Amino acid sequence: MSMKIPFFNKQLKETEMANLESAPDHVAIIMDGNGRWAQKRGLPRIAGHKEGVSTVNKIVKAAVKANIKILTLYTFSTENWKRPKSEIDFILKLPKEFLHIYLPGLIENNVRIETIGDFDALPKHTRDAVQYAKEKTKDNDGLLLNFALNYGSRFEIMHAVKQIMNDLDCSKITLDSLDENLFSTYLYTNGLSDPDLLIRTGGEQRLSNFLLWQLAYTEFWFTDDLWPDFNETTFLNALYDYQQRKRRYGGI
Ligand code: FPP
Repeated sequence: MSMKIPFFNKQLKETEMANLESAPDHVAIIMDGNGRWAQKRGLPRIAGHKEGVSTVNKIVKAAVKANIKILTLYTFSTENWKRPKSEIDFILKLPKEFLHIYLPGLIENNVRIETIGDFDALPKHTRDAVQYAKEKTKDNDGLLLNFALNYGSRFEIMHAVKQIMNDLDCSKITLDSLDENLFSTYLYTNGLSDPDLLIRTGGEQRLSNFLLWQLAYTEFWFTDDLWPDFNETTFLNALYDYQQRKRRYGGI
C-alpha cells in the first residue's frame, strides 16, 4: 500500500522517505501507562484515563491519514474488572464521552466503529453509546476503529471452543472441516485480517491476554512512552520501523 499523504512524509527524514511502501493494514495497540502518567503529576489515576481519550483521537486521526485499514485498541480487558469499582465505572463511561465529542469527526472521516469482546456483559450505558456509533458508521468503508471492550483472549478462545463443540454436536460442522481458517471464524475477530503490527506503550513487554491467536505472526513494537504521551510522531516511527522489518512467516 502506498503512503500518499503529505502529513506522513513530513514526519520522516529524507533518507527514510524512499521506503513508504507496505504500511501495515491492521495495527493493534495496548494502551498502557495512563495510571502512571497521572500519578507522576500527583493526579488520581482516572485523570490519566481521561487524557488517554484525547490520545485515542490523535492516533485515530494519524491512522486515517496513514491509510491504515484496521486499528484495534485494547480499551478494557476481562482482567480490568479486578480494579476498584470507581476506576472501572470511570473507564466504562469513556466510550460514551469519546463518542459524544468525536463521533461527528469520525463520521466525516469515513471511520467505521466496531468492537471485539464480551459486549453483552458491559453496562447498558456503555453498550448503548457504542451500539449507536456502530449503527451510525456501519456503511463507512474507511478505517475500521475496533475497540477491544471487555476483551480477553483466553475467554475468546474458550468461547470459540464451546461454540465449535456445540456446532459439531448438532452436525453444523464436521471434525474434518475444522481447520485454522474455520476456527478463526469463531473468534470475535471473524472477518478481520490478523494484526500486522502490535504496539504497546508504557514500558511493559507482555501481551496481557490480548489477541493471543491473532498475533501469531505479528511484528511487535514497544515504547516506554506512557499512553497519554504517545503521539502522531511516535506512531509514525512505529509504522516506519515496521516497514523495515522482513516478515517471513516461518519461511526463509
Ligand atoms: C491501561 O493503563 C489502560 C486502561 C486499562 C484503560 C485504557 C483506556 C483508555 C486509553 C481510554 C479509553 C478511550 C476510549 C476512547 C474509550 P493503566 O491504567 O494500566 O496504566 P498503568 O500501567 O500506568 O497503571
